[in-house]
Amino acid sequence: MPVLTVVGAQWGDEGKGKIVDLLAEQAQYVVRYQGGANAGHEVVVGGENYVLHLVPSGILHAGTLNIVGNGVVLDPDSFLGEIAGLNKRGIKTKGRLFISPRAHLTLPLHKALDAAREGADGQTKIGSTKRGISPTYMDKAGRVGLRLADLKDPRYCMEQLKTSLQEKNVLFRHLYKSKPLTAGVLWKAISADAKALLPYMADTEGMLNAAYKAGKRVLMEGAQGTLLDIDFGTYPYVTASNSTAGGSATGTGLGPTRIGYVLGVCKAYTTRVGEGPFPSELDPKRDKVLRELGGEYGRTTGRARRTGWLDLVALRYAAQVNGLDGLAITKLDILDTFKELEVVVAYKIGSKVVTGFPATTAELAKAKPVTVKLKGWNAPTTGAKTFAQLPKVARAYLNYIEKFTDVKVALVSVGAERNKTIVVDSKLKSWKF
Ligand code: IMO
Ligand code: MG
Repeated sequence: MPVLTVVGAQWGDEGKGKIVDLLAEQAQYVVRYQGGANAGHEVVVGGENYVLHLVPSGILHAGTLNIVGNGVVLDPDSFLGEIAGLNKRGIKTKGRLFISPRAHLTLPLHKALDAAREGADGQTKIGSTKRGISPTYMDKAGRVGLRLADLKDPRYCMEQLKTSLQEKNVLFRHLYKSKPLTAGVLWKAISADAKALLPYMADTEGMLNAAYKAGKRVLMEGAQGTLLDIDFGTYPYVTASNSTAGGSATGTGLGPTRIGYVLGVCKAYTTRVGEGPFPSELDPKRDKVLRELGGEYGRTTGRARRTGWLDLVALRYAAQVNGLDGLAITKLDILDTFKELEVVVAYKIGSKVVTGFPATTAELAKAKPVTVKLKGWNAPTTGAKTFAQLPKVARAYLNYIEKFTDVKVALVSVGAERNKTIVVDSKLKSWKF
């Protein structure tokens, strides 16, 4: 079953873009299944830097078809801007990029709401990317959203917009003290984009099922990460979609029985951007050191990321809720200069030591990390081409992760470029899952 799902195993920014780009070399389809322009997937090819927000990271391989699945929320402005940017750099999108007719649209009203809610008194500040993600999914669940296919039916769009604005304008006017919006003005802007967007619409669910039947290789590209998942993440400090592996079925139309392998991407340490509890967060001095070493600044918002030791309690939980078959450990090289490292193996909450991942933010906020000190390898890893070429101490670090999580290390990344990767699990080369 050559369908491979790649998920973030932490709080996002694990290096999914690089891993997807690398594995996409052998894939015929790369599919985004959830999230929207909140994602910032960075790929470095031949010294050139690409940051993808909505377009799947397979686009940088000429032979790959790329799909934006039904589970994604699509911001037309952001999408069209991204395409224009790629085209300018010589990367073709016509005939290689397809969007599900069922994908919901993120409209300016959603972005305005996202920003207003983040700034409002009496609301929990989530530290969202302000890309309108949560309000779009709210409208999807509230059944007042617009989907790509709806753009062909202006009358229906106007009706949906009017229904949606009935509620929204009460909020804009009375709660957020801002100007109300009109369906007519909104539709004018949307219909202008429709002409450019609709040519990308295709029966992606049909395409993927046909591809599966024909034995084609399909790579599902997760956005965000397990701890930002709407169900399994550190609620309410989460995003609004299922970023975990199950989302790659509901967000694409390929049934869960079709998924052959789930790969969890995980940094050799931890980062988090935005608000919310983070048990293994470093003290400000060491946080700064690791942030600078790792270049830990958000690719979507430019915000400084918070950094911490690798949290194995959280990673083992991610292994469970995703059913991980393998781990891709990224940015191992960032730890090359450390003489000593720590990993979190339990939490102390009050007088109790717990080894499971707490369900509530209140508990997690109280959790004091119980760490184990491990030797640093204090030697370069970037030149290693095989697992055996890694320093012995670095291998011991990876083995420790494997043992604790009961998931094998399937891939190790020791630099941003494609060739700075060690593929350990031969299944990721043969696609025989
Ligand atoms: P990639 O795919 C890291 C975080 C935001 C905020 C929370 C909710 O690049 O790993 P949202 O805008 O989704 O409503 O914000 O989720 N967040 C991310 N953090 N990487 C991402 O994507 C993220 N997408 C959202 O910072 O804390
Ligand atoms: Mg990101």
